[in-house]
Amino acid sequence: MKIEGRTFVISGGASGLGRAVAEDLVSHGAAVALLDRNDEEGQAAAKALGDDKVAKFWPVDVTDTDTIKAAVDGIVAWITETTHKPLGGIVPAAGVGFPGLILDRKLKPLPMDNFDFVMNVNLRGTVDLVRQVLPHMAADGPTGAPDGPDKERGVVIMVASAAAFEGQMGQVAYAASKGAVASMTLPMARDLSKHGVRVVTIAPSMFETSMTSAMTDKVRQSLLKSMEFPLRAGRPDEFAVLARHAIENTMLNGVVIRLDGASRMPARL
Ligand SMILES: NC(=O)c1ccc[n+]([C@@H]2O[C@H](COP(=O)([O-])OP(=O)(O)OC[C@H]3O[C@@H](n4cnc5c(N)ncnc54)[C@H](O)[C@@H]3O)[C@@H](O)[C@H]2O)c1
Repeated sequence: MKIEGRTFVISGGASGLGRAVAEDLVSHGAAVALLDRNDEEGQAAAKALGDDKVAKFWPVDVTDTDTIKAAVDGIVAWITETTHKPLGGIVPAAGVGFPGLILDRKLKPLPMDNFDFVMNVNLRGTVDLVRQVLPHMAADGPTGAPDGPDKERGVVIMVASAAAFEGQMGQVAYAASKGAVASMTLPMARDLSKHGVRVVTIAPSMFETSMTSAMTDKVRQSLLKSMEFPLRAGRPDEFAVLARHAIENTMLNGVVIRLDGASRMPARL
């Protein structure tokens, strides 16, 4: 899928991995619609990327279908009236970690509110954004157009985690949400094949973002011990390079790619 001249919708675009993908895609000639619940950071991120022909921010809580709908309506109008760049991809990168043991030392079970919160953001929020953008990508018109001999219309790049495969203690909810994202990849690719839309999921290990910046030194050192090479956390730009490759390489489809330097998370840190 050609990046230049296309518009990409990125949730969690105000920070971390989503923001790095936005920066990379803009530097390769795309327009980006940034969606995030953090209004201030989102506005600042869009402004830093360029004028409103290049990047625009919409305040969205991905657990709220109506805020996604309002953003998608806005994106359709923005493409039609301003960017004239049809959709090329969706990157649902908004996500949260909320650790909690299934049973703690005082024999208190995991509160379902914690579980629902993580599932709603990481899983439901991913599905809801993707499903609301897709009709505009799949239809001929200002927001959707086939590209090249394969008549490709776009790519969905979902974000799982190493926790989808080896979740640590306290990650029942997070691992469930990311495992579900990984599991959705193939059926979603199969559903979308007739529309010329591919689906690729990236499963990163520890990356330097605000999600991991709060880690104590002890946890960080312990995590480093679980690494092979390189002996460091990933950088958001390394995630963005893989996302770009997945967009550009038409043969990548229905697959979950680990991005982890061969690290395997231990049970506890
Ligand atoms: N950083 C890592 O080590 C790591 C590892 C594996 C997977 N991931 C995944 O990568 C994705 C991006 O995380 P990150 O590391 O860039 O973290 P981050 O905290 O830097 O960025 C996440 C963004 O999502 C936004 N967000 C959270 N809940 C939202 C909601 N309900 N609606 C809209 N926006 C919301 C936040 O405001 C934030 O801007 C997440 O899905 C995360 O689970 C991160």
